[in-house]
Amino acid sequence: MLIRAFKSRPYDLAVNTIGPDDLRELIAWLRRYPRLTMGAETGRFQQAWSNWLGVKYSVMCNSGASANLLMYAALASAGLAGKRKVVVPATGWPTDIAPAIQFGWQPIMCESDPVTFGLNMASLETVLKREHPETVVVVHVLGVPANMTRLRELQRRYGFNIIEDCCASHGSCHQGRLVGTFGLISVFSFYYGHHMSTVEGGMVCTNDQKVYQHLLMLRSHGWLKDLPAAAARRVMKKYRVEAFHAPFTFAIPGFNLRPTELSARLGAIQLKKLDAAIDRRVANHQVYQRRLKGVIGFAPGVPGDRISSISFCAVARQAAERKRIILALDKHRIDTRIFTAGNLGRHPFWRDRYGVFTAPMADALYRGGFFLPNNQSLSAADIAYICDVVQKAVG
Ligand SMILES: Cc1ncc(COP(=O)(O)O)c(C=O)c1O
Repeated sequence: MLIRAFKSRPYDLAVNTIGPDDLRELIAWLRRYPRLTMGAETGRFQQAWSNWLGVKYSVMCNSGASANLLMYAALASAGLAGKRKVVVPATGWPTDIAPAIQFGWQPIMCESDPVTFGLNMASLETVLKREHPETVVVVHVLGVPANMTRLRELQRRYGFNIIEDCCASHGSCHQGRLVGTFGLISVFSFYYGHHMSTVEGGMVCTNDQKVYQHLLMLRSHGWLKDLPAAAARRVMKKYRVEAFHAPFTFAIPGFNLRPTELSARLGAIQLKKLDAAIDRRVANHQVYQRRLKGVIGFAPGVPGDRISSISFCAVARQAAERKRIILALDKHRIDTRIFTAGNLGRHPFWRDRYGVFTAPMADALYRGGFFLPNNQSLSAADIAYICDVVQKAVG
């Protein structure tokens, strides 16, 4: 099924998934003059998201980057960060790393993998032996699931917490299991152009009750007000806080990263269409893989995995080839851009502190990577057309 979307060009990378029907539903709700700051709608969307993903707890916040911030803060606040050494991927998003720098952790960058473009497990094992980090951040790069079977084997051997960034991989599965259900904490983004959108928005998910309670406090100033009653009572008893003071008792240093009810309501509306959007993206991704095999480089993924991609990431052999393809795409009004950040270790925020990170795969993605459109408004025929353009440009 194709899903209508507002688009500026026929083959955009990102489209507005909030369609006229969604807006009509939102307007009907607004006519009832509901509360718009965080409240019951957020609670309902969090529960619906937990049910969809199959986790115990979800905490909505105002962006995927805020979810990245919260995942670090919750680990530290819950006493799970150890000496604050964290492995971060060379290919991912800068906000997977920024909180480590901002909070004074020690980030160690890891090479990317040719099969998934996520963490390279052999390189990771070398880092684990040498550095003994307590945390590993894994990104399912643009929807291609990382090799979670290998990662969990390494976890059993070396012992560390897994944090999963699923901001661009809603509905992707590793060996039949949804990404976002493997780690101690997982995060999602609902920004424009993602599988579903709440305008701005993010979600932090966990099965761990302690982490959940710290997330609730961290999201809202560090206060007790949002905690389940029994948990709040425990803190009040420990610190002999009288009931009148309880809601505005500040247990930990927090932020304000709350969503609005408007975003949560949109999330609930969009969630109804998420599975259809995922099916379309999975089918489109398969067309790319079939048509571009042997034409251009891409991450095949672990055999048997389901790839619900945000965009299709292709890799040219050299800069000249990429240039040729980009010109052809532009001529045919097909949207493209560089491969996210390619190698994050080449960007100023990293190199100014730790020096340039060089590794063969991450550098190949930096030099040759580019995006091809995949979204729920594109049909298999659209994807076949884009593949024809790429194939002709490669020659
Ligand atoms: C892997 C990853 N993490 C985090 C983010 C940040 O999400 P947001 O744009 O909602 O802040 C993105 C954004 O695309 C992303 O791709």
